[in-house]
Amino acid sequence: MKKKAVLVTAVLLGATAAFAQGKRVEVFSWWSGDEGPALAALVKLYKQKYPSTEFVNATVAGGAGTNAKAVLKTRMLGGDPPDSFQVHAGQELIGTWVVANRMEDLSSLYKSEGWLSKFPKDLIPLLSSKGGIWSVPVNVHRSNVMWYVPANLKKWGVSAPKSIAELLTACNTLKAKGLAAPISVGDASFPQQHLWESIALGTLGRAGWADLFSGKLKFTDPKAVAIWTNFGKVLDCTNKDAGSLTWQQATDRVVKGQSAFNIMGDWAAGYMATTLKLKPGTDFGWSAAPGTSGTFLFLADSFGLPKGVKNKTEVTNWLKLLGSKEGQDAFNPLKGSIAARTDSDLSKYNAYSQSAARDWRRDAIAGSLVHGAVANETFMSGFNGIVAQFSQSRNAQAAAQAMQALATQAKLGQ
Ligand code: GAL
Repeated sequence: MKKKAVLVTAVLLGATAAFAQGKRVEVFSWWSGDEGPALAALVKLYKQKYPSTEFVNATVAGGAGTNAKAVLKTRMLGGDPPDSFQVHAGQELIGTWVVANRMEDLSSLYKSEGWLSKFPKDLIPLLSSKGGIWSVPVNVHRSNVMWYVPANLKKWGVSAPKSIAELLTACNTLKAKGLAAPISVGDASFPQQHLWESIALGTLGRAGWADLFSGKLKFTDPKAVAIWTNFGKVLDCTNKDAGSLTWQQATDRVVKGQSAFNIMGDWAAGYMATTLKLKPGTDFGWSAAPGTSGTFLFLADSFGLPKGVKNKTEVTNWLKLLGSKEGQDAFNPLKGSIAARTDSDLSKYNAYSQSAARDWRRDAIAGSLVHGAVANETFMSGFNGIVAQFSQSRNAQAAAQAMQALATQAKLGQ
């Protein structure tokens, strides 16, 4: 026992000395509170592997990083970048921080870690541009998922709708049975935009969705105007207090039987299974958002190495852990996402994640708008305003025109 105590003291003293020498890594993300446990599992592994490095877990609360991204911008532009920060694969990374020349190329790390053959071939291009690879993906989340409680649907005599028309029919049936808000949604920080993207995909189909963001299909095309018409009808099925609810509180409405359906990314599975301790398949059920079956609307959280950070070795160690099988299989089972790596151990995942992993392999893949895959920050911030305005005005034509003007301004698809 004595020996052990001496050893522990020695290790602690060593760590303190190293801390004093400034070996530290600051990791910036929006995974706090309910979203914290998966990150905590990674931090624990990091501390085990690198006990002499101080780990600074810098989080800024707020779903989808709406607050964190603003803080990040101030820090990046003020010359005070965090050592590593959460950023979505795709345009949020490439069209924002890479074009601004703020990131280090990680190609050599990809080579030395053997990642080029471990991450899906379709994912690496979303992390690459100008001949470099700019971040390390820790997961794959699905955006277009509809959540419900199977026993409640049975009680109400409805089944999970497969199309937007079926969703609207179910909404009317449930309203007639006294359920005031059959679909739950949270506030305008991102949950309402998130609902919009599933309705858009369900309205246009996969090819139409891709054409919209490549510039082939105009936002003013009648097919795209129909997104707003459908979105308005869906909003008429939602809770009146949406503006004051977080995404978790919108999920809670379904869990408590106050609403039948909620459309949210599969971090909701993480919340229900890890935080609320509910059993996937029994306590909560899921299906693709109406009209989107066969398409996996995907996003990936990744972390990069900003230019000018002091702790390069420590950050590289963090990135190595993030990209490793061990790291991904510690993080993702708690997060509701699946590993970005193709060799993860699915026996560590629950029934929801196993089904997501099957769909990821089988479905066609499309990129999420709200979570950074297909549009840059200029487009995203304008889009937020248009959704907010539409929820007041319900003017589909005006929203479609504003979107087209924004697409031109943000050089969407160029
Ligand atoms: C997404 C992010 C997820 C999850 C979610 C809710 O943008 O990719 O990992 O954190 O926001 O905050």
